[in-house]
Amino acid sequence: MITARRTGAALGAEIQGVDLSKDIDDATFRQILDLWHEHEVVFFRDQKLTPAQHVAFSRRFGELELHVRKDCCRPGYHELFVVSNIVEDGKPIGSQDAGLFWHSDLCYLKIPSRGSLFYALEVPHDDSGKPLGDTLFASATAAYDALPAATRQTIAGLKAVQSYKKGYYRDRNGGRRKPLTPEQEAKTPDVEHPIARTHPVTGKKCLFVNEGYTARIAGMPGPDGDALLNDLITHSTKPEFVYRHSWRAGDFLLWDNCLVQHLAIHDYKLPLRRHMERTTLTGTAPF
Ligand code: OGA
Ligand code: MN
Repeated sequence: MITARRTGAALGAEIQGVDLSKDIDDATFRQILDLWHEHEVVFFRDQKLTPAQHVAFSRRFGELELHVRKDCCRPGYHELFVVSNIVEDGKPIGSQDAGLFWHSDLCYLKIPSRGSLFYALEVPHDDSGKPLGDTLFASATAAYDALPAATRQTIAGLKAVQSYKKGYYRDRNGGRRKPLTPEQEAKTPDVEHPIARTHPVTGKKCLFVNEGYTARIAGMPGPDGDALLNDLITHSTKPEFVYRHSWRAGDFLLWDNCLVQHLAIHDYKLPLRRHMERTTLTGTAPF
């Protein structure tokens, strides 16, 4: 029997009674899908998955993205993006700075990702045994619903510019990174997406702006547009919309990239090791 336990925050639920390494029948899969859409983030504890099982379960949801940074993928698995601070033979095994700013995965693409499936292999802890490297999730539906009616009216029909470059050109100290090559820039042109985005399955309205990649409001250059965007971004991650996930090795967690934005807490460093792996679902054009 599969059951869901809400986290008590604005979003998130733990699903119990499922072993993801086993064959999941269609009815159970449907229940998982429905729970995910309802709770926006769902997670399963104590899972033991091989990389192939992680990919196979993810494929039940649809097509997967192959990450552009192949050097960050698990060798032999172009679908598995590694997020880790581990360095082996002088080479990082994955991305070391994922999630430094609030964002939603691939929001800067014309077709952003539908959702991500994240598996915790190694989790750092402090001396007292408290887990480090939590991830914060903010409900974009709760944020939208809490907007004043006048603001909802203002943003109806407006689009925002999502810019890979805005996110890229900041390191964790707020500094600038090595410039992208013209080829890399050409691959990630700025795109425009509705600010009040509709979830393709549930029809719920989501506030689709984030600190990481949203650069400006389309057609509103100047201080008015900047002030509006700033207000929306600040509003979108108010504590009352946030669930903070403390990881345990064996956690398998799904977030929806339309219903939710997320942020990684970088409060650990080597020799404390963190190793997570992510598959990324291909999405559909935002509306
Ligand atoms: C990601 C990401 C957050 C984290 O993999 O997309 O943002 O806590 N990760 O590692
Ligand atoms: Mn992310």
